Amino acid sequence: MAKPQRASFVCQNCGGSTNRWVGKCPACGEWNTLVEETDAGPPPGSGITRTTRGRAVALESLAARGEAPPRIPTGMPELDRVTGGGIVPGSALLIGGEPGIGKSTLLLQLSAAFANAGRRTLYFSGEEATAQVRLRAERLGLSSAPVALASETSLANILATLADGKPPALIVIDSIQTLWTDTLDAAPGTVSQVRAATQTLIRFAKQTGSALLLVGHVTKEGQIAGPKVIEHMVDTVLYFEGDRGHPFRILRSVKNRFGATDEIGVFEMVASGLREVANPSELFLGDRDSKAPGAAVFAGVEGSRPLLVEFQALVAPTSLGTPRRAAVGWDANRLSMLLAVLDARCGVGFGQHDVYLNVAGGLKVTEPAADLAAAAALLSSLSGEVLPADRVFFGEISLSGAVRAAGHMSLRLKEAQKLGFAQAVLPQAGDIDTAGLKLSLQRISHLKELADMAGPCH
Ligand SMILES: Nc1ncnc2c1ncn2[C@@H]1O[C@H](COP(=O)(O)OP(=O)(O)OP(=O)(O)O)[C@@H](O)[C@H]1O
Ligand SMILES: [Mg+2]
Ligand SMILES: [Zn+2]
Repeated sequence: MAKPQRASFVCQNCGGSTNRWVGKCPACGEWNTLVEETDAGPPPGSGITRTTRGRAVALESLAARGEAPPRIPTGMPELDRVTGGGIVPGSALLIGGEPGIGKSTLLLQLSAAFANAGRRTLYFSGEEATAQVRLRAERLGLSSAPVALASETSLANILATLADGKPPALIVIDSIQTLWTDTLDAAPGTVSQVRAATQTLIRFAKQTGSALLLVGHVTKEGQIAGPKVIEHMVDTVLYFEGDRGHPFRILRSVKNRFGATDEIGVFEMVASGLREVANPSELFLGDRDSKAPGAAVFAGVEGSRPLLVEFQALVAPTSLGTPRRAAVGWDANRLSMLLAVLDARCGVGFGQHDVYLNVAGGLKVTEPAADLAAAAALLSSLSGEVLPADRVFFGEISLSGAVRAAGHMSLRLKEAQKLGFAQAVLPQAGDIDTAGLKLSLQRISHLKELADMAGPCH
């Protein structure tokens, strides 16, 4: 006799489950995220049944038998950079990103490149009809690429299609949230469905050596399972970010079992699709307004690549009881911390001022070394003194106001020099390779020195 199915309540935010409904998830603390899902056992194709008895498996040694994982170059250097040199056969890659950011565009371009290189490529669109995908391909000028396309959401049908014929080199699923299997009662997009589909597809990829590319939607609400649940199941997680108002898009690797993380790829969204940007600094410094106070250029590093961006601050007397603090492209807590340090260690108070900080171009900066540039922008806006247009800043600021050394100092300086900058304000500590460096360097060990440079302390 078949066992009755177990009902459980699964958190759509973190994937944790409980056996009764509660308002607040005991695992992650989110409210109203539990949804009843019936567990019908392992997903199809996983080879596991309820009655399977264990058997001893063959054990192997650590000593390498093969070489480094072979990689297939994608034909898109920026994508190769982010993935660590190309797509690894048999690996699973998840691309997350907000609606409309360009995930389908990127994957269609990648599919076309694969297919044009003679590799069998299957593109399953669960969100768009084939006609829509074809229209996009036409706009991108990729109609002639031999990509095999289907609009399908049934996991069983997809598996049957995959098993038919030569194993594909690349499988694209757009998106994982749309897939469903009828062995589960839960609705498509719920954690159980997403997890089951991912598990099954990854298994197929590992067995056949096909590379698997999954699109995952990022939502703030718990209704649709975010890719967080499947992040631990896949080999590589990429995030596609960008600002709707700006054409450029950043592809960031947050997890990579086959390469470094924190690498970024920079693209520009144009009518003909995503175009790679080889010199992002030039792009982000494109239309600088260097004659206004409050603008300071940060010499940053993303992954292994230098990236110069402008920090813009606006400091204005407040008309409110509680002054406003807002940051775009930078951590708001970091801004609060910096304002507190300026106040406590340099005597520069912002208590009567609204403070706005913006990273130009829609880039999100997470490097602590940006502190000094942010501070320079804030001080410049407060004093009204324009900073020299040919000066860059970098250095992390500690709570004591000390300026700490940053990584890749020489790399930052070389990039600044290449782009025509003549001066840099940087930490006293840390070694730099001065060979061929013509920048005039101003090395400081405390934030107070920057405050003094920007005008008298208040
Ligand atoms: N004719 C066009 N010219 C320029 N850019 C376009 C054009 N049509 C679409 N785009 C760009 O492509 C974006 C949509 O790209 P795409 O469909 O790949 O995004 P997505 O991340 O897959 O979105 P979704 O989450 O809806 O699936 C639009 O936001 C727009 O920026
Ligand atoms: Mg899409
Ligand atoms: Zn939870």
